[in-house]
Amino acid sequence: MNNTVINLGLAGLGTVGSGLVKIIQENNDWIVRRLGKTLKVKTIMVRDLDKPRNVVPSADTTFTTSIEDLLGDPQIDIIVELAGGIEFPRQLITQALERGKSVVTANKALLAEHGPELFELAAAKGVGLYYEASVAGGIPIVQTLKESLAGNRIKTLTGILNGTANFIMSEMSEKGEDFSTVLAKAQDKGYAEADPTLDIEGIDAAHKLVVLIRLAYGQDFPLERLIIEGISKVDQFDISLAREFGYRVKLLAQVRDKSGLLQGGVYPALLRQDHILAKVDGPFNAILLEGNAVGPVMLYGQGAGDLPTGSAVLADIMALARTDSAPNNTGFLEARLPQAQILAPERTVFRHYFRFTVLDRPGVMASIAGVMGEHNISIAQVVQRQCAPEAGVPIVFLSHSAQMNNVSAALETIKKFSFVLAPPVHYRII
Ligand SMILES: NC(=O)c1ccc[n+]([C@@H]2O[C@H](COP(=O)([O-])OP(=O)(O)OC[C@H]3O[C@@H](n4cnc5c(N)ncnc54)[C@H](OP(=O)(O)O)[C@@H]3O)[C@@H](O)[C@H]2O)c1
Repeated sequence: MNNTVINLGLAGLGTVGSGLVKIIQENNDWIVRRLGKTLKVKTIMVRDLDKPRNVVPSADTTFTTSIEDLLGDPQIDIIVELAGGIEFPRQLITQALERGKSVVTANKALLAEHGPELFELAAAKGVGLYYEASVAGGIPIVQTLKESLAGNRIKTLTGILNGTANFIMSEMSEKGEDFSTVLAKAQDKGYAEADPTLDIEGIDAAHKLVVLIRLAYGQDFPLERLIIEGISKVDQFDISLAREFGYRVKLLAQVRDKSGLLQGGVYPALLRQDHILAKVDGPFNAILLEGNAVGPVMLYGQGAGDLPTGSAVLADIMALARTDSAPNNTGFLEARLPQAQILAPERTVFRHYFRFTVLDRPGVMASIAGVMGEHNISIAQVVQRQCAPEAGVPIVFLSHSAQMNNVSAALETIKKFSFVLAPPVHYRII
């Protein structure tokens, strides 16, 4: 882009949009020093023109509710989509790309569900579709995978990608409080939405994982083929017991390359307490990956919030403002990336944590251990806790590595025993 002023058309002036405007205002000299160009927020599209705003863009910024004021303005160089949702941004971004305008977005849900066609369209038009802010807010993981680690094959990538879920898991572990108490606290602090489903059921982290898999492997992993398990059923009892065994429970998003097949999922899992990701607490995010040349790399920082996320959006805008050639959107040459080669979930191998609530009578432990043995699950540790007998007795087994189809079959058999009083609890151990 050769002009000395880069005009932005911004859709959305909420948390992230306001953060972006603040940074552009405060760091204006710095941006000019790096770009030799000024960034100008020319037009802002919102839903409600009368809503009070906590940032005051410059006097000549126009507010609108009309998409055409963004798309039809030939002076607008880059469309910045910070509205959220799916249908409106899909329409806005598609039309912007069709008209040859580059786009910056923070919208992981849209990129997870409609990324393939949007990237194909951007490639066909030779324009940019950048999305650093869509995964882990201020952490520069998109650029890192696309550029800095481009020469590496990524063996594994494990992320704490949802700050709300991580805050809940950290508080439950440190304060001994139950899930619903901590969720209410997270909502009070503004970390969790009134409807927290996307965060606590692992869906938001899954959207981000789809984006990361595309960048790390150049393959499209359909959202519906990811294993997605949330934290809403995680019990304080298991968190405390895991702690006694030397583990922390975290909601992890993980992809592993198993001889060319990808295994991807989001699940609560036990991590040894000296694991570097076990130390990531509160609303922070982190990504630990293993490249075949670089070895382990970890990125840590704020995964949400106005300024951290605005910082990532601004980085994309500046990168596009510098680009004269065709932008590098996915990091791969194909306009349409291939579908991921996926390892079936039942063939994945982990170590496991099991808790059974059983009647306190002789032979129970031997019966459970027998079923595990029949399914090739080798037991590493067993603990039995004394509780009020009428509530049943918890027995916890930690296993060595076992394939998921064996685990599922063993659980099916064990839960049918008459001495089993509640559905078995199961977590992967990383
Ligand atoms: N919040 C974070 O920390 C964070 C972090 C990473 C990524 N993101 C992503 O960033 C995006 C924006 O999030 P946010 O938290 O900033 O959202 P937000 O606070 O809810 O703000 C949304 C903004 O978009 C406008 N808007 C929504 N739908 C619209 C429509 N149909 N037409 C015109 N304007 C519309 C709203 O207008 P009004 O103001 O008039 O209502 C509001 O200004 C989302 O995709 C989110 O997933 C957010």
